[in-house]
Amino acid sequence: MASNRRALRERNGAGVASLRGGPIRSPYWQNVRTIKMLIESSRQLGLAAQLTLRRSVLVVISRRFALAVRKKVTVIGGGMTGGAIAQRVVEKGIADVVIQDDPQFAQTLHHGKALDMAQSASWLGFETKITATDGWGDTAGSDVIVCTAGAPRKPGMSREDLLNGNADIVRAKVTDAAKASPNAVIIIFANPMDAMCHVALQASGFPRERIIGQGGALDTARYRAFLQMETGVSIRDIHAYVLGGHTDTTMVPVVSQARIGGLPLTSLLSQEKIDAIVARTMRGGAEIGELMKVSSAYYAPSAATAEMVEAILLDQNRLIPSAVLCKGEYGINDIVCGVMCELGAGGIKRTFETPVSEDERSKIVAAADATKSLIALLK
Ligand code: 2OP
Repeated sequence: MASNRRALRERNGAGVASLRGGPIRSPYWQNVRTIKMLIESSRQLGLAAQLTLRRSVLVVISRRFALAVRKKVTVIGGGMTGGAIAQRVVEKGIADVVIQDDPQFAQTLHHGKALDMAQSASWLGFETKITATDGWGDTAGSDVIVCTAGAPRKPGMSREDLLNGNADIVRAKVTDAAKASPNAVIIIFANPMDAMCHVALQASGFPRERIIGQGGALDTARYRAFLQMETGVSIRDIHAYVLGGHTDTTMVPVVSQARIGGLPLTSLLSQEKIDAIVARTMRGGAEIGELMKVSSAYYAPSAATAEMVEAILLDQNRLIPSAVLCKGEYGINDIVCGVMCELGAGGIKRTFETPVSEDERSKIVAAADATKSLIALLK
């Protein structure tokens, strides 16, 4: 709490901290004196003028309060994915967004994207701010940081092929980001994502609650999309999840517990069709890469990530499969793996060992084993 107040104070100035019960500083009292003076002098005015004045004072106070509680999200990397995440988050109107990138890679692209998005505010109606930066000062005090920095995989590449190249990038970025925002929750995007969460845990020194991999949310979205296409029912009535790893071979689309409007998936589709959907889900990212050729996926990834960001910022307690450093879930210890997580203020509030079949359980454990082998290759 004290550190939250400190972060707010750093971000918004001392007057804000006074409003939230911190040390009393002069800007707040100057505001109070001005308001009192205005109300006193309004006594000489007619009733209508008094009411108008009081309404304006209330508007000023509520705007100041909104600024005091406004959240901040940093998106590291202004590429296709980073840009799309920044756009989705700022358009939700729930946080100011800063896009951080390096001029030697991005030149001024991130500045251009931020300005372009800012100019969409008048038609879209969001009042949150979007900016870009080359350094870390402007990212300080972020509530959530999404790290998209890293090479995307090209057609024919596996996520694992990116291991050490992306580890160097993620290590450097997370180290700087964590220094600027020591209380942030960091969502990891770069691949191989489960291994990159280990890199981020080590680089930041953050607890497991605040280093979260986004793969489960994305893979779940793909699984549900394919189930929707096959069954034709509304996407909102499909309750199915992907656990395990975020690679083509370690993902575990859970069939045994998948429900469509309360009906077991297995009662609606043949085993053959289910198998095909599971296989397509596991290659979901590769399929998009092969089709798009010039980039990897970013629409569904950004939608999934923005939902996670919102759950954390608004303390929604959403149950979203996410990669977390396991502490006993499915018998996995000290390895990152996708399990059901409750996302709210502060990151992961609880993890759950949702029921799965024996076969699915052994695949989840195998996913953690694969990540363990991968992190052994980290230089
Ligand atoms: C995907 O699956 C990039 O890992 C990401 O599309």
